[in-house]
Amino acid sequence: MTDNTVLAVDRLEATYTHTITALHGVSFSLARGEILALLGANGAGKTTVLKAVSNLLPAERGQITAGTIRFDGIDVTRTRPAALVRAGLVQVLEGRHCFRSLSVEENLISGGLGRSSSRTEIDGDLERIYALFPRLKDKRRTASGLTSGGEQQMTAIGRALMSRPRLLVLDEPSMGLAPIVVQDIFRTLRRLNREESLSILVAEQNSAIALTYADRAVILENGTDVLTGTAREIRARDDVKSFYLGQNNRVTPRSNPSSPALMA
Ligand SMILES: Nc1ncnc2c1ncn2[C@@H]1O[C@H](COP(=O)(O)OP(=O)(O)OP(=O)(O)O)[C@@H](O)[C@H]1O
Ligand SMILES: [Mg+2]
Repeated sequence: MTDNTVLAVDRLEATYTHTITALHGVSFSLARGEILALLGANGAGKTTVLKAVSNLLPAERGQITAGTIRFDGIDVTRTRPAALVRAGLVQVLEGRHCFRSLSVEENLISGGLGRSSSRTEIDGDLERIYALFPRLKDKRRTASGLTSGGEQQMTAIGRALMSRPRLLVLDEPSMGLAPIVVQDIFRTLRRLNREESLSILVAEQNSAIALTYADRAVILENGTDVLTGTAREIRARDDVKSFYLGQNNRVTPRSNPSSPALMA
């Protein structure tokens, strides 16, 4: 592992209830400032990898049975989830998980509570998030449960940003959202990545959008990593989609699907 490595997953194996083997040996690493996409069909093991990375598997009756995970030199499997958040590893779980009866702003503030920050710092962070997601500023007093799916996803991401992560982990941020909203969210993630050197690990079934914005991708199949490469390489391979990605039919919002220069 080089100094530039933020996250190193090595030969990871995991089970649920000590009986169902979900991961059979997954290895990959994520460099500082990189966006890495974790791709794969239904049940390939994406969520299990992400939960393992935040040490959340025990809460799901899951177990890591072999392998190692290191975040900035920290042994993840020996570190409590809250301590990982304080160390800068923050996850946006699948399905958005906002507090529905709290306002958008209250949801955002809840993300910064672990940092015991001053009111001025919190206000500064809120303004930063409203600059990234202007729609949230308009809805700041609205109960999250009354906002759209896209706004809830933005709130969940904003809440994660309130703890000032160095590595942001997201599970299927595109799930159930309209293509234009998905594109908006990925553009914002790209901007954060570029402007603040935020490292990002994102699991997606929507490989088209993930490969548009990621630097590199790891493809999982049946709990094993079967292919790793730059997003550009993987985008260029037609066979990948039909072999490994369950041939999803979600369309890419790009106007010219063959253009590799779109991320600039
Ligand atoms: N809580 C659980 N208990 C038992 N088995 C589980 C549990 N969660 C996942 N699994 C199993 O582990 C394997 C990997 O599932 P996982 O959810 O990690 O895949 P995924 O790639 O995230 O899929 P999806 O695209 O549907 O979200 C699957 O066989 C799944 O059935
Ligand atoms: Mg999943």
